[in-house]
Amino acid sequence: MLAKNDISENTTIVVGASRGLGRGIATAFADAGARVIAIARSGAALGDLAEDAGVIRPEVADVGVIRPEVADAGVIRPEVADAADPTVAGTMLDRYDPQVLILVAGATPLMRPLQHHTWETFSVNWHTDVRMAFHWLRETLLKPLRPGGQVIVISSGAALNGSPLSGGYAGAKSTQRFITSYAQDEANRAGLEITFTAVLPRITPMTALGRPAVQAYAARSGQSEEEYLRPMGEPLTPQAAGTALVKLVRADPGATARSYLLTGAGLQELT
Ligand SMILES: NC(=O)c1ccc[n+]([C@@H]2O[C@H](COP(=O)([O-])OP(=O)(O)OC[C@H]3O[C@@H](n4cnc5c(N)ncnc54)[C@H](OP(=O)(O)O)[C@@H]3O)[C@@H](O)[C@H]2O)c1
Repeated sequence: MLAKNDISENTTIVVGASRGLGRGIATAFADAGARVIAIARSGAALGDLAEDAGVIRPEVADVGVIRPEVADAGVIRPEVADAADPTVAGTMLDRYDPQVLILVAGATPLMRPLQHHTWETFSVNWHTDVRMAFHWLRETLLKPLRPGGQVIVISSGAALNGSPLSGGYAGAKSTQRFITSYAQDEANRAGLEITFTAVLPRITPMTALGRPAVQAYAARSGQSEEEYLRPMGEPLTPQAAGTALVKLVRADPGATARSYLLTGAGLQELT
């Protein structure tokens, strides 16, 4: 079993790390001393992230296959990949053998009322967010991650309340929460000692995905963005998301709930 609280011993994979909440999470784990493997499709944005966090030695950057022991603590290693590709999850888990896997990546839903969606726009998050959760959770169980491993799936507060302007988004995020819990059941049945947790962030204007959603819901309710956001308190920033997830990974897994709401004030256990 891994020693808790010392994440500098960890290799952490963050899927969807090039911008938004994932970028804040990758940075927070690197700042806490973890070796971070940052996955996204945009190589340029990942390169900026890695440069901000630390220098990758040239001999590390030039080789195609990286062994975990050459990824320095506190350094972010970029991996350009489509995380929805069914071969990527197994490849990355075999290559880096992480203690922590954080699935953040998701598609930006088209914001419009139900009757203005096509089936393709309605179902986009099923073919990205749910698909990624399915492939990555399945591979963590099959590999399996080492005892003490932790898997966090970023779902959404929309899974609790619905999201009438973003087609199938809320249902997709709810399904991510369900299958995270299914994975926990399977891990328990097999005695794998892996913790699976769903984290449901509240809508925030601080990312490329959240901003158009805030604009759309504010316009629909005839409010300014400020008026719409005010009752929700301090908006969730990528930095606050990173701080909250580092705290979660440092906590005793025995005391970790299956799902949490994440707001600007931090994590709140869901029952
Ligand atoms: N912002 C909010 O208000 C809010 C609220 C609740 C839940 N969430 C959830 O939080 C997560 C992050 O949202 P965000 O607001 O930070 O979004 P964002 O700013 O749009 O960032 C999404 C990240 O996912 C990556 N990504 C998307 N598809 C990918 C793929 N196929 N393979 C690899 N990487 C992929 C993107 O990188 P590339 O494009 O470079 O691949 C990017 O790094 C999402 O799951 C979202 O549903 C957000």
